[in-house]
Amino acid sequence: MIYVTRRAEFSASHYYHNPDLSPEENRRLFGKCNNPHGHGHNYTLEVTVAGEVDPTTGMVMDLKELKKLLEAEVLEQMDHKFLNEEVAVFSTKIPTTENIAVEIWKMLEPKLRLGKLHRIRLYETPDLYVEYLGD
Ligand code: NI
Repeated sequence: MIYVTRRAEFSASHYYHNPDLSPEENRRLFGKCNNPHGHGHNYTLEVTVAGEVDPTTGMVMDLKELKKLLEAEVLEQMDHKFLNEEVAVFSTKIPTTENIAVEIWKMLEPKLRLGKLHRIRLYETPDLYVEYLGD
């Protein structure tokens, strides 16, 4: 098995709010992140695909194809978006780095033809990332 990782960057804004909690509880739990006007992040996404090297191509999958897939399935939906209001799933789910990583997995996993999605890493800042392995 060999692992291939592609990196992409996108910018998005969000705020944290749980409608099941009171305004006070939301402020206590989320602090500044609860401001409904939102704040932005420059995210770095790393997508790792696992597979065997195809002896005909010498590759696990065409990395141009992976790039196009990331652009079409993830960046198109999230780049320069206000996640809470412009990405449907985050109208009911708090767009934390954890939840964004899981949603990116769900967007990509069914679309991969060659190789198998192995890991999503999402950096909220250069020194903080969340990793999702699909379970
Ligand atoms: Ni934030």
